[in-house]
Parts: sequence; structure tokens; C-alpha cells
Amino acid sequence: MKNGASILVVDDEERVRGLLVRLLEEEGYQVSMAASSEEAIRELEGGSHDVVLTDLMMPGRSGMELLAEIRQGHPDTAVILVTAHGTVDSAVEAMRKGAFHYICKPFKLDEVRIIVQRAIEESRTKHELAGLRREVHQRFEFSNIIGKSKPMQEVFELIRRVARSASTVLIEGKSGTGKELVAKAIHYNSPRSGRSFVAINCSAITETLLESELFGHMKGSFTGAVASKKGLFEEAEGGTIFLDEIGEISAALQVKLLRVLQDHEIRRVGGNQTIKVDVRVITATNRDLAEAVRQKEFRDDFYYRLNVVTIHLPALKERIEDIPILAQHFLAKYAKGAVAPFTQISKEAMRALMQYPWPGNIRELENVIERAITLGAEGEIRLEDLPDPLRREEGGSQLEAIPVEMSMQDVEKAHIERVLRHTGGQVSQAARLLGIDRRTIYRKMQAYNIRKD
Ligand SMILES: Nc1ncnc2c1ncn2[C@@H]1O[C@H](COP(=O)(O)OP(=O)(O)OP(=O)(O)O)[C@@H](O)[C@H]1O
Ligand SMILES: [Mg+2]
Repeated sequence: MKNGASILVVDDEERVRGLLVRLLEEEGYQVSMAASSEEAIRELEGGSHDVVLTDLMMPGRSGMELLAEIRQGHPDTAVILVTAHGTVDSAVEAMRKGAFHYICKPFKLDEVRIIVQRAIEESRTKHELAGLRREVHQRFEFSNIIGKSKPMQEVFELIRRVARSASTVLIEGKSGTGKELVAKAIHYNSPRSGRSFVAINCSAITETLLESELFGHMKGSFTGAVASKKGLFEEAEGGTIFLDEIGEISAALQVKLLRVLQDHEIRRVGGNQTIKVDVRVITATNRDLAEAVRQKEFRDDFYYRLNVVTIHLPALKERIEDIPILAQHFLAKYAKGAVAPFTQISKEAMRALMQYPWPGNIRELENVIERAITLGAEGEIRLEDLPDPLRREEGGSQLEAIPVEMSMQDVEKAHIERVLRHTGGQVSQAARLLGIDRRTIYRKMQAYNIRKD
């Protein structure tokens, strides 16, 4: 049996049907048959078929209509049309409507064999690709956060665990590494997901304003306070508050927030009553807070309250293997709104994306992809659609620094070593960056006596 591939033969003429069924059964396929399009559709509902081999002209619905139906309802099934009235026009139409192939009667048995076999291969590949795509999404995506690298997988695991508790979480990471995304993921995977998620950037407003934003104020408590107002802690009751750039708040406010974390109550500015609040606090910073504590720029007691759990988000250049799936993710996101369809990223462009150091991290990557889609020609993102700094990394401003007396081999050796250092000794990743396959890099490493570390 040929991998148990299953084929449906559709023809109103019994003689032709019998001939095809015998031929395909001899080939080892699992064959079923139908005498009309209507019967074929019922048969297809009953189970999956790799290939449908159908006559074009039949009483009732034609083979062309059956083709359209299959493309709609069973996109992974390949359709081959067979007809006695072979004209170029109908062949073209069939292919345009998504037929795998077109066979004219009288057909040669070998021709049928070969085309069916190729159709099965294609249908199998489609199945596998669809499966792979699903799997990538299941394994490498968590609440809109994409990442297959080890550090990101660990972040996912940490989010899952911490989401269940109500503990305070500190998220550390440079600009654009996804801190806010992680804060939301924690909230939306927690028992508090039905309540508010409230975010505020602590560095964006003055200290007095921030205090009244957080805790609210009483009427007349300061000039301009014409009415009493609820603060964000009260707004977030039962939910989560996200304090971004927590490293920027004043010492005085650190003391006040520390009290909130300990006593779970707040006091509005100008008020003398305390109000109980049940709010989970998540904070984020792009500073090294431990260092700030050592420098006495940040209160240690407050710091220990904040970092009950710390989630560290690595810079994008420390997880190069995430770049291709992130790039694909943003391509899919922005290609939807684009005038022209974009489906892929050229090899050269991908290599440039993987070599660039990404000081702005994922936000910068997202912007670069969006820009390339807006400015680029349709089809794929090419090297020339990327902004200057990315292309320069590719080219070689640093090459100027190589002394002229260095031989090609010395340069190659030095470059491989440099890339391996960059990937932390990951050979496959280095090979990808260098644009060579794994076997080649291993061969060169051996020849030049380069060790992974
Ligand atoms: N792992 C990821 N998968 C998919 N998208 C991501 C990921 N990380 C970040 N992004 C996207 O990148 C952008 C920046 O993320 P976010 O705002 O969470 O970063 P941030 O660390 O808070 O940055 P900043 O410090 O500048 O405020 C957002 O559009 C976000 O959706
Ligand atoms: Mg942010």
C-alpha cells in the first residue's frame, strides 16, 4: 500500500470509472468512487482524501463546479480534471481555479500514474506545512508574545506560574523588549482577567500629578482640583495596575507606594480617610534597579517589595533565533493592511535582520518590517527595503579595520570566531548568520582549529 494515500474517482461513465479504479488500486492506493459531483461531495464529507480525480462533463454539477467546492471545503485535497473535450480554454480555467492538473482523454495510463503521484506529494506537503504552522503557533506563542528561544520559553513558563498568584512582579528589560506585553499576559492569564488592567508611565508626568493620578484627590486639595477624583488604584479594584518606569519615581512616592503594598490601602491626596484596595501591582523598568539600590538612588525596602518575582526580558540580540519568527509575525500583521500582498522576506534581508544589533529591540524590528511593507515593492521584503543602518551592517564599514596584509583565510577564521562569540557558541545559529550550512561551518572550524567556546 502506497502510504495509504486515498483517492476519489468521479466519473459518470462506469467504464472509465472502473478503468481508473483498477489502475490506481494496482498502484496500491485506497480508492473510492462516485458517479456524480453530488455523490462525490457526500463522499468527501465522510472522510479526507488526498486526491480527487474527476471528469469535467457530467450530468448535474460539472467537474469545474466540484473543483470550486473542493477548493472551498477541502483546501488540502488536490484535484485533477479529466476530460474528453480538451480545450486550452477549459484547461486554463481549471488551473486558474486551483486544479492540480488537467488530463485529456484518451489518456495514457502512465500519465495518470505520474500525475496522481505528484498530486499526492503536493497534498502531503500542504498537510505537513499546515500542521507545522499550527504547531509553531502553539509552541512559540503565548498571549501574543512570540518566542522560541530558551530565555523566552522560560519567560512563558514564569508568566504561567506567576499569573496564578497575586504576588508583585518586577519586569526588567531594555526599551522595546516587550515589558508591557508581558504585564498584560500576566493579567489576562490570571484570575483577575475579568477586571481592569490599568497602566501608567511613572516617568511621563510630574511627581504631584503622578500622586494624584495613582491615589486620586479630594476637591480643593490643590489648585485646579475642582472636584474629587478617583485614582488609578481605585479604578483597578479587583484587577491589576501596571507601573511602568518605576525606577524614575521620587523617594517620597516610593515610601507611599511601599505603604500601599504592605497595607493594601490608599489615601487620596488631601483626604484623611484610608480606602482598602485589592489590586495586583506589576512594575517595569529599563534600569538596573539592583545597581540603583547599591548607589542609594532607590530604596532597598521598596525594591525588595517589588521584586518578589522578577522577570528579565533579554535584549533581542541575545535571542537571534527569535528574529525570523518575529519578523514573520509582523509581516503577517502588517501585510494584511498593505495594498500589495507581501508573503516573504528574502534570504539577504533575513540575514541582515539577524546581524543587526537592534538597540530598539522588538519595537524597532516591528517598525522596520512595517516600513518595508509600506515602501517596498510587492511580493517580498528585500535587502533594499530595509533602512540604511541594517544594510551597512551587512556590507562592511568594519571591514575598513582589517589590515591589508591579512589573508582571506585569516579573515575567514577571524570572522567565524567573531560570529561564534556573537551567538554564544551556537554553531547552527552562526552558520545561519554566515549564510553557510552546518556541515560547512564544522568543516571550517576543524580546518582553522576553532573551538565553539
Ligand atoms: N515577544 C514579542 N512578540 C511579539 N511582539 C512583541 C514581543 N515583544 C514586544 N513586542 C511588540 O513590540 C512592541 C514593544 O513592546 P512593549 O511596548 O511591550 O515594550 P516595552 O518593553 O514596554 O518598551 P518600552 O520600555 O519602550 O516601553 C509592541 O508593539 C509589542 O507588541
Ligand atoms: Mg513599555
